Amino acid sequence: MNNKIVKGFSEGFLWGGATAANQCEGAYLEGHKGLSTVDVIPAGKDRFPVMKGEMKMLECDSEHYYPSHEAVDFYHHYKEDIAMFAEMGFKTFRLSLSWARIFPNGDDEVSNEEGLKFYDNVFDECLKYGIEPLVTITHFDVPMNLVKTIGSWRSRKMVDYYERLCEVIFNRYKNKVKYWLTFNEINMLLHLPFMGAGLVFEEGENQEAVKYQAAHHQLVASAKATEIARRINPEFKIGCMLAAANTYPFTCAPEDVWKAMGRDRENYFFIDVQSRGEYPNYAKKMLERMNINLVMEEGDAEILKNNTVDFISFSYYSSRLTSADPKVNAETAGNVFKTLRNPHLKASEWGWQIDPLGLRITINSLYDRYEKPLFIVENGLGASDTPEEKGYVEDNYRIEYLREHIKAMRDAVNIDGVEILGYTTWGCIDLVSASTGEMKKRYGFIYVDKDNEGRGTLARSRKKSFYWYKKVIETNGEDLE
Ligand code: BG6
Repeated sequence: MNNKIVKGFSEGFLWGGATAANQCEGAYLEGHKGLSTVDVIPAGKDRFPVMKGEMKMLECDSEHYYPSHEAVDFYHHYKEDIAMFAEMGFKTFRLSLSWARIFPNGDDEVSNEEGLKFYDNVFDECLKYGIEPLVTITHFDVPMNLVKTIGSWRSRKMVDYYERLCEVIFNRYKNKVKYWLTFNEINMLLHLPFMGAGLVFEEGENQEAVKYQAAHHQLVASAKATEIARRINPEFKIGCMLAAANTYPFTCAPEDVWKAMGRDRENYFFIDVQSRGEYPNYAKKMLERMNINLVMEEGDAEILKNNTVDFISFSYYSSRLTSADPKVNAETAGNVFKTLRNPHLKASEWGWQIDPLGLRITINSLYDRYEKPLFIVENGLGASDTPEEKGYVEDNYRIEYLREHIKAMRDAVNIDGVEILGYTTWGCIDLVSASTGEMKKRYGFIYVDKDNEGRGTLARSRKKSFYWYKKVIETNGEDLE
C-alpha cells in the first residue's frame, strides 16, 4: 500500500469545530429556558452515579456545583466566539440545541420564542461569515419535566414530543441549516443512561430492558425526524451519530477476536438500524438471550425501513481493547467505554489512549459497513493548559494529536477512497468536560479563563493551535506542520 500520497481534501470539505449546548451555553434558566437533565448533573464524586441513573438527583441542591449553569457562557459570548471561529476559517460549526430552551417543559403546546430567537441569532451570525451550521438536535439533554412526569425515554410518548420539537425547528430553520444529527452518541445511553436518555432506575428493575426499550424509542424518533425533515426540506441532510472506535482483540486467540467483534456490535447495533433500516439478526438474538421483549408499535418496522440516514457521523478519541481472558484486566479510561490498556499506545493525562491509525481503521470499518458518506464530528485531545500572560497557550501536544489524526483521515480519503464530508474538532473553544465536569480538561483552540470551581473572567484568548488550525484550513489540509 502506498502511504506516500499526500493531497489535501476535496473542494467544499467542511472544516470546523464542535460544541454542545449544555457544555458551553450556560444561562441555564435565562430566556425562559426550562431545567434540563444536564443541569442537575453535578461536578465531583456524585457525577458518575447521577449520569448512570443510579443516584436520583431531580433538582439542584446547594451542596453541589453544577457546571452547566454558567458553562463558558456562550449564550452571551456567541458573537465574539463565532467571530473567532471565522478568523480560523471555519467552514462549519457544530452546535446542539437545548431542547428545554425551545420547549421548557418538553410537553408544552407552544414553543418558547425567546429560545428559538437565540438560535436564529446564532445561525445568522454563522451565515454572516459563510459558516454552515451543523446541528445536533439533542446532545445529552432532555427537559427535566419529562423525566419527572413520564420517565423520559422509557416512555413512548417521548417520540411524540421529539417529533413536535423537530416540526418546529425544521420549519423555523429550513433556510438556515442543512445538516442535522438526530441524537449525539446514541450508543451512550447504554453506558450513561441518565446522561444519554434521562433514565433513572428503580431498585430491582431490569436495567438492560429499560435501556433497550428507550433505545428503540430513540431509534423510532430518529427515523420519524428524518421523515419530517424530508417533507419540510428535501435538501436537508440527516445523519446519525455514534461514539465510535474499533475494539481490538488483545491477542490473536479466536476467543479474543470473537469478544472484540461482540463489543463492536453493541455499538454498531444503533447505526445498523439507523442506516440499514432494521434490527440486525445478531441484535434480535441478543435481546432474546437477555429475555428482553421490546414493545414495538405497528408501523415501527416500516418507519425504520423507510427513513434511513443520509450520512454517518461519529466521534473518535481512542481505540478500544478487550480480552476474553479474565486475567488480562489492566484497564484504562476511554470516553466512558471500558477498555484494556494497550501496551503499544501512549495515553492522555486522563488515560485516553492515543491512536491515530485507529481513526483510519474506524473510518474504513464504518465505510465498508454502511457505504455512506462519513462526517467526523468529534476528535481532539483533552489536556490541561498553562496559559502565559494574556492567555496564550503553547499547546504543542494538542497540535501533535490533531496533526496525526488529520493525517490518518487524509490517508483514509486519498489512499483508501473513503468519502468524508467534513471534520469538526471537539470543543473548538474550551468548554465543560462531559465525563468529569471539569474545565481543566480542555480541547479548545481558544482558551477560556475559568477553573473547575467556576472562578475566572471568562475572557477568551488564542492558543498556538488556533494559528495552526487556521493554516490547516487555509491549505485545505495540505500543510499540517
Ligand atoms: C463525547 C461527547 O463523548 O466526548 C462530548 O459527545 C464530550 O459531549 C466529548 O465532551 C469529550 O469527552 P470529555 O469527557 O472529555 O468531555
